[in-house]
Amino acid sequence: MSVTDRLFDTRVRFLSGKGGTGKSSVALALCLLAAQKGKRVLLCETNPAESLARFIGEKPLNGEPRKLAENLHAVALIPREAIREYALMILKFKALYNAVFENRLVQYFLRAVPSLGEYVMLGKLWFHETQREDGEPLYDLIVVDAPATGHLISWMRVPQVFTEMMPAGPLKKSAGDFLEMLHDPARAKLDIVTLPEEMPVNETIEMDHAVTQQRLITRGLTIINRVTPALGSDLLPKLKEVVSADSESLFRPLLEAVETREHWRTLGERYLKRLPADDLASAIRITRQEAPLSGLAAFEAIAKEIEGQL
Ligand SMILES: Nc1ncnc2c1ncn2[C@@H]1O[C@H](COP(=O)(O)OP(=O)(O)O)[C@@H](O)[C@H]1O
Ligand SMILES: [Mg+2]
Repeated sequence: MSVTDRLFDTRVRFLSGKGGTGKSSVALALCLLAAQKGKRVLLCETNPAESLARFIGEKPLNGEPRKLAENLHAVALIPREAIREYALMILKFKALYNAVFENRLVQYFLRAVPSLGEYVMLGKLWFHETQREDGEPLYDLIVVDAPATGHLISWMRVPQVFTEMMPAGPLKKSAGDFLEMLHDPARAKLDIVTLPEEMPVNETIEMDHAVTQQRLITRGLTIINRVTPALGSDLLPKLKEVVSADSESLFRPLLEAVETREHWRTLGERYLKRLPADDLASAIRITRQEAPLSGLAAFEAIAKEIEGQL
């Protein structure tokens, strides 16, 4: 299966992984790739404090989908705003919402419902996933820049907890709808972004086990970010030959730098071998860039690199 098939085989892609692995960067690149392919794409972010809009010089996102590029909209899943929207959907009228939800007792109650924020974030996502226009899905692909490993797992557990704990009512019913979405591989999958380093690889394995054993969501892509490309096979031996022939060689510092790079690269490849063999073989690799990623062009370049692995 090609990467585009693997990219478009589900409507909602959750991107998670250890913090700092590049989830937000990869999410944006995947969205740009899909949008260039003519898909209608929605990028959802879950952490407004680290809004990925800043990567491309945009102001932070909010609860209203905003156009970022042709075919690409982005929205923030913010608990407070999502709770308000959810309540408005049930109550229909703003005046009623204000009367009920601005009421201090009700606010006290809401704060006492654990995970309500996570629940309504899923609700908002479910809403966008089921949005239709002339009978067609409004979005072909929804990419969620999801929270890091531990938080992701507790988020994915929320609908199950709600179906078990809540008395019959709208909260319980919607939780069933969210579960259906998460359990259907045509509608939702979890992609993991990792690095060729020890801790991110270990977290990938842990998350993989947790979501599979607990049957939270189907696993999708494994994306290895910040990969150091292998050197041409004869560069190092040639450099060694030149330096060993001349003890004063000006190339000595270069040889040392190249050897250090090779040391870290092979160490990284060794850590990656801990991943399930199939995941490693089919993983998408993204090269480490020297300059910090910023501006649309940087993410379009990553999108191209992903596409080139078709
Ligand atoms: N392939 C890459 N090459 C170089 N820097 C990268 C790459 N991918 C991400 N980064 C940088 O790493 C940092 C963390 O990336 P980010 O996408 O914010 O990670 P996360 O969302 O997982 O916390 C950012 O400064 C980003 O520019
Ligand atoms: Mg991020």
